[in-house]
Amino acid sequence: MIGRKTASLACLLAVLGAGASPGALAAGDPAAGQQKAAACMACHGQDGNSLADMWPKLAGQVPDYIVKQLQDFKAGRRSDEQMSPQAANLSEQDMADIAAYFAGQKPSAAESDKTLLARGEQLYLKGKGRPQPVTACTGCHGPAGAGNRDWKKLMAQAPAVLAPAIGGQHPAYVAKQLKAYRDGSRGNDAARVMRDIARGLGDMEIAALAAHVARLGR
Ligand code: HEC
Ligand code: HEC
Repeated sequence: MIGRKTASLACLLAVLGAGASPGALAAGDPAAGQQKAAACMACHGQDGNSLADMWPKLAGQVPDYIVKQLQDFKAGRRSDEQMSPQAANLSEQDMADIAAYFAGQKPSAAESDKTLLARGEQLYLKGKGRPQPVTACTGCHGPAGAGNRDWKKLMAQAPAVLAPAIGGQHPAYVAKQLKAYRDGSRGNDAARVMRDIARGLGDMEIAALAAHVARLGR
């Protein structure tokens, strides 16, 4: 995945080093997960395609990423008024099962502002150098925004490369997360990978990236 165009990513990865690894991941059972996810569907949708844009889509998400976020909500490393209580009583096995179910669903397409697409695509594929360097998103999230299911092969101990699927995600949710990384209110990214990237983004750039990402097929 690391080609000539993503040379800056290789440099970045070299300095990330080994971060804390998420807890050992149990194998998930999607059928059990569908049963256990009944309470989640009110917000995230039956098949993980939420209808309102304050709720992230979980369909097609990288399963290890879902587990990591649930662990983080449960432990208080990531916090949200609606979501934190939902994770509080989940066991590791529940998390793995629910993740296996949602990861196996097909994400629907999302709508977004067409006027912003060109700038969004450019930032996504190339990043930018100044004033604050922004690493190209494609290196970790992939050209189609499908995330990195092979993160362990790339760097066994580093969840800094456990990049989620963001293609087809609601633009309002994507923008909210990038702003939360920028102001530090979301700080559960290993090696500060997203906080450092988001610091270099202005509001218009965030809107453009969110618009582009929403259009990417997984
Ligand atoms: C009352 C609505 C609600 C319910 C019910 C709910 N969630 Fe959430 N969930 C949210 C919101 C809101 C967020 C986004 C929080 C934010 O903006 O950071 C979220 C975020 C998440 C994320 C992180 C997604 C990402 O892309 O980072 C995961 C994983 C998740 N929820 C799983 C679940 C699971 C599993 C359940 C059921 C056990 C559940 N949720 C139940 C509202 C809900
Ligand atoms: C070095 C790898 C890397 C690069 C480059 C990168 N990301 Fe990420 N990104 C991650 C990781 C890892 C996470 C998950 C962090 C965590 O565990 O919470 C993430 C999380 C996100 C999220 C939160 C998704 C969700 O479901 O909550 C968004 C949005 C995002 N990245 C957008 C971008 C954009 C836009 C760019 C380019 C400007 C970018 N990323 C560049 C690794 C990367």
